[in-house]
Amino acid sequence: MSSFELNKIAGAVLTVALVAMVIGIIGDALVKPKEHKGTTVVTAAPAVIKKEEKKLDPIGPLLASANVEKGKKFFKNCSNCHTVNKGGAHKIGPALWEIVDRAMGGGSGYKYSSGMKKMTAKWGYEELNGFLHKPRKYVKGTKMSYSGVKKAKDRANLIAYLRSLSDSPKPLP
Ligand code: HEC
Repeated sequence: MSSFELNKIAGAVLTVALVAMVIGIIGDALVKPKEHKGTTVVTAAPAVIKKEEKKLDPIGPLLASANVEKGKKFFKNCSNCHTVNKGGAHKIGPALWEIVDRAMGGGSGYKYSSGMKKMTAKWGYEELNGFLHKPRKYVKGTKMSYSGVKKAKDRANLIAYLRSLSDSPKPLP
């Protein structure tokens, strides 16, 4: 091998090493977090976001004093889409007789959204509370197009009414 060829090889090796080094330096600069010496960076979350993320209070304590009649009245907001009688048919939404403790997406013969089909729990009181508060947040991809029931008291009355849709209502929590 001539020394000219050796030089070419050495040159190529050096170039590769150099490129690797430069990439390494740039990579480090991109990935390494900057260190703040002596200062603590505090980012204040906007109040709005904090409020949004606040956990929903449990509905259990409100159920004992909930008013089934008021819940029935409030259900007028739901009755376009849901039946409540024993053996009631599915409408736009599934029939709600015996809904408490029924599996989520468990109304037989009803075509649920894929989002609801993914839910594996049962409709306990707190689950109903979460869903009725913000349906689309609680069940991602639900096809229930209803914005939700804002007031805890309204939800308590409503859930007490849903509980009554049964031959033997489930015990209160
Ligand atoms: C515009 C029609 C519509 C309105 C109004 C509506 N729903 Fe629904 N609801 C649906 C649909 C559709 C589903 C099925 C959701 C899915 O498959 O994602 C559903 C699902 C449900 C479920 C779950 C049932 C199951 O078998 O898993 C409950 C509980 C429920 N609705 C209660 C209510 C209550 C209470 C109201 C009133 C505050 C209400 N809905 C208002 C259409 C509606």
